[in-house]
Amino acid sequence: MVRTVFLNGKYINENDAKLSIFDRGFLFGDSVYEVTAVIQQKLVSWEGHTRRLRRSLGEIGMNLDMSDDDLLTVHRKLIALNEVREGLVYLQISRGAADRDFAFPDPCIKPTVVLFTQEKSLIQNQTIKAGAKVLSFPDQRWGRSDIKSTQLLYASFSKQRALEQGKDDAWFIKDGLVTEGSSNNTFIISADRKLLTRSLSRDILGGITRESILEYSKKSGYQIEEKPFSIEEVKDSLEAFTSSSTTFIMPVVEIDDYKIGSGLPGKITLELRDLYIRNIMKDLI
Ligand code: PDD
Repeated sequence: MVRTVFLNGKYINENDAKLSIFDRGFLFGDSVYEVTAVIQQKLVSWEGHTRRLRRSLGEIGMNLDMSDDDLLTVHRKLIALNEVREGLVYLQISRGAADRDFAFPDPCIKPTVVLFTQEKSLIQNQTIKAGAKVLSFPDQRWGRSDIKSTQLLYASFSKQRALEQGKDDAWFIKDGLVTEGSSNNTFIISADRKLLTRSLSRDILGGITRESILEYSKKSGYQIEEKPFSIEEVKDSLEAFTSSSTTFIMPVVEIDDYKIGSGLPGKITLELRDLYIRNIMKDLI
């Protein structure tokens, strides 16, 4: 099916969507983005995604003349036009098009706003059954991983290297400690059955899924600690998993050829996945 996409105020056929070659998103990666999951034609954790988008825009000094309600309307309209039952809406805002110059254009130019949808099975994700095998890589991304920017080359490069070695994903390591996955946050269940995930800082993206998991698991009585952990701690853990808007909770069964726990998706991980899905279903908009 040829999709309808949104480009700078217009809903158009994806084949007619044309951008300037001077767009700073294209030339400098000068853009931020969001990916929001869709279930039953509705958005998951919308409030969290708009909050994070505003933060990313603020951190890089970019203005957007669209309100949260405007953005919600576009998301909903694209879901309806493309009849997305389950999948995602991708939103990207770049600083706009101007003659190539490292300095930001002055006066400010009009940002480029792009949205499109992708159909994807999120709840019945077949890869959950086997779990993911990951390889560790030094975290060589830029130092502001907390901003959801489209500078994703190192993440893409590392994931590709992991796939070429027969694995499923890359985890990044900084100063001997895990930061996050190529496109997800990382968690372990320690030997004393605590849920551990790295605390928020410039080293990781503040995942909306991560935030919801912490909220729901706390309410359900799980013991939680937000602190960094090492590869050794991952190897000694009972279970491990990643979180993201497009995979929710993905069991991780192996790191650097070392089996985690039984080497199968963990019981607590699968419980948390169920808990997460049950809770987001109550809050779809
Ligand atoms: N990625 N960390 C990184 C580096 C990410 O790229 C993502 C999301 C996350 C998880 O964030 P959230 O739970 O809000 O999706 C953490 C999206 C899905 C992507 O780039 O496609």
